[in-house]
Amino acid sequence: MTTLSSAHKYACSVLVNEPLAQDIWRMRFSCPELAQSMRPGQFFNLAVPGDPSNILRLPFSWSVSDPREGWVEFAYLLVGEGTRRMTTMIPGTASDLVGPAGNGWYIPQNTQHALVVGGGSGVVPLVALVHELTQHGVSCDFVEGAATQNRVIYEDAITHYGAHFYLSTDDGSRGVHGFSTQISQDLLASSAAYDVVYTCGPSPMMRAIAAQAHEARIPCQVSMEKLMACGFGACTTCLVDTKNGRKTCCTDGPVFDGEEVLW
Ligand SMILES: Cc1cc2nc3c(=O)[nH]c(=O)nc-3n(C[C@H](O)[C@H](O)[C@H](O)COP(=O)(O)OP(=O)(O)OC[C@H]3O[C@@H](n4cnc5c(N)ncnc54)[C@H](O)[C@@H]3O)c2cc1C
Ligand code: FES
Repeated sequence: MTTLSSAHKYACSVLVNEPLAQDIWRMRFSCPELAQSMRPGQFFNLAVPGDPSNILRLPFSWSVSDPREGWVEFAYLLVGEGTRRMTTMIPGTASDLVGPAGNGWYIPQNTQHALVVGGGSGVVPLVALVHELTQHGVSCDFVEGAATQNRVIYEDAITHYGAHFYLSTDDGSRGVHGFSTQISQDLLASSAAYDVVYTCGPSPMMRAIAAQAHEARIPCQVSMEKLMACGFGACTTCLVDTKNGRKTCCTDGPVFDGEEVLW
């Protein structure tokens, strides 16, 4: 049975919208209701103005927020028409969104040491998670995998929160030459005793991390990215096959137990 969404529609307006890295932009918008209610790992569905023929919203996770000042920030990779149109949303642009959507990350009781692995734009929801974990006194090892050094995002925030930062780049321009899965494999084999593993990024990466965590007998949470039409449980565009049947990514997820997903 599909979980019901508790998301609402809210007005928002752009405060900052600027390049953050190569082909990746950062948007900060004012939306006090969302800033006060959204948990790490949840997402929102943004209406992108400028094309009346396009009625679908785009789903995005959030990275940083300030509930007191009422703003939320996220970073977006330019992949198609919608995200390219988003770059034209200058400060002051008004829009609306539906959120908070989805379940968010879960911090098991007595967690002391977490391994967090992000790839590409999958780093975004993990930034908010690391903030929450470190605020709870959890020690974090963060592995970021980027295509190239110019696409590394949120390194400052992650280290500022106190996480140990490890980097891989596909082209070897910085950090370990290769994939984040090589670093996570080494960390899991080291003496570090992790209580939980969190990951978000390309599906092959998450599948590999979930397998590594399974091998090490450590629970693993994965944040799935599926194409979404409605974003609140009405259309079944976003189905995820699991050991417990088909689930909707937008309401049952996006965070799933890595053991549950049928990759
Ligand atoms: C829960 C959730 C959270 C997300 N958070 C972020 C985020 O924090 N930062 C970020 O950069 N992106 C995020 N995404 C992906 C983002 O929603 C898509 O990149 C965006 O909607 C693409 O819109 P577009 O019109 O530019 O591209 P389109 O023209 O619609 O598509 C361009 C290409 O991107 C692929 N694509 C489109 N939507 C998705 C999707 N939802 N998942 C996987 N591939 C897609 C298409 O198949 C196509 O190949 C998230 C997606 C989900 C489901
Ligand atoms: S996008 Fe998930 S049910 Fe519509």
